[in-house]
Amino acid sequence: MDAFTYQNGQLHAEGAPLAGIAAQFGTPCYVYSRASIEQQFRAWSAALAGQAHLLCFAVKANSNLAVLGLLAKLGAGFDIVSGGELARVLAAGGNPHKVVFSGVGKSVQEMQQALLAGVHCFNIESSAELLRLQQVASRLGIKAKVSFRVNPDVDAKTHPYIATGLKDNKFGIDIESAEALYQQAAELSHIELRGIDCHIGSQLTELAPFLHALSHLLDLQERLAASGIAIKHLNLGGGLGVRYRDETPPSPAEYVNAVRQMLKGRDLTLIFEPGRSVVANAGVLLTKVEHLKHSAHKNFAIVDAAMNDLIRPALYQAWMAIEPVSPRAGEKRCYDLVGPVCETGDFIGKQRELALAEGDLLAVRSAGAYGFSMSSNYNSRPRAAEVLVDGSKCHLVRRRETVDELFAGESLLPDEGG
Ligand code: LLP
Repeated sequence: MDAFTYQNGQLHAEGAPLAGIAAQFGTPCYVYSRASIEQQFRAWSAALAGQAHLLCFAVKANSNLAVLGLLAKLGAGFDIVSGGELARVLAAGGNPHKVVFSGVGKSVQEMQQALLAGVHCFNIESSAELLRLQQVASRLGIKAKVSFRVNPDVDAKTHPYIATGLKDNKFGIDIESAEALYQQAAELSHIELRGIDCHIGSQLTELAPFLHALSHLLDLQERLAASGIAIKHLNLGGGLGVRYRDETPPSPAEYVNAVRQMLKGRDLTLIFEPGRSVVANAGVLLTKVEHLKHSAHKNFAIVDAAMNDLIRPALYQAWMAIEPVSPRAGEKRCYDLVGPVCETGDFIGKQRELALAEGDLLAVRSAGAYGFSMSSNYNSRPRAAEVLVDGSKCHLVRRRETVDELFAGESLLPDEGG
């Protein structure tokens, strides 16, 4: 399902014209489709029907409270990587018992917060982290449920910045040393071993690397069982890719079916941590053309969204589709679409054939994941508004930041007197 379609020559989000949203809430503005988010989450749940499972939405992909709230109502759990994300999940009505806590650098304070909230599992990435968790948990008198994130040394065949399952990456525990760590953990008074975890990268468009990693996990599970350590769950992380341009990633059903085939006969709960595949194509970034700059050599369209609003093109050279909200007749030219930030890397798209005039609205597609959640205030730019569309209703789910808010926490040095 594509929630963003042209109706009478105007791009809509579900039943709401994007031009109306821009007029009401201004630009730049993120627009999400409720139906699209729900449909993607349901596709994952349906694929897992009849199999013990927990679907933990990766909060980092889109952490807006309204989005988290929708998913919580559908029964989602959440994959968090900070105390801040845990606080968001709780504020959105998420169930802490369905939360898994990932990340290589959990602080004492974050461990404490998560233990008190009663999270389902800590995904542990080093022996130092394990010992810290044992200490914090014993101080609180709570048993911490743990899985180890293993690094299966599998090439995810994705952008190097988002590949995480290779030996060279900072993530996980070398699968060869994992057994010893499980043995060590089994001796600790406030650690309860629950699972094996891995996440080999993001925007994977083929099944093979996932299944390769899974085969390593299953081998480890067997070795552990043989040495008396019973594992209850396998967490395969996130990573399922989406179509930005012409990629043909497997659907959640294709992926899950292949996993279920390999699991046959084993009594294991499956955990997944999908982020992008749930929300990427459920969102657009709406932006307005400020100026056109034509020269013999190059054409620039300077738009009001910049790398601080959407960093994926600048950071990963990510290609994201850009569509006019009200396509105009006239000659198309080849444009680089750039933002107002003072960096050459500040672009949203390059070499796009478009017929444009000042004031035109554009929709950057597939911006529902790692869009707003990676935005910043660079160049002292207030962060964009976020709108969630439900049919023809538009809900402002995060108002545009104000300039005052930008430096509300700052102060001048005291007067030196004299
Ligand atoms: N679980 C763990 C432990 C992760 O590190 C990630 C993403 C996920 C789950 C969710 O992965 P997903 O299903 O969304 O692929 N900012 C980058 C993507 C970074 C992904 C980081 N980890 C981008 O915009 O492409």
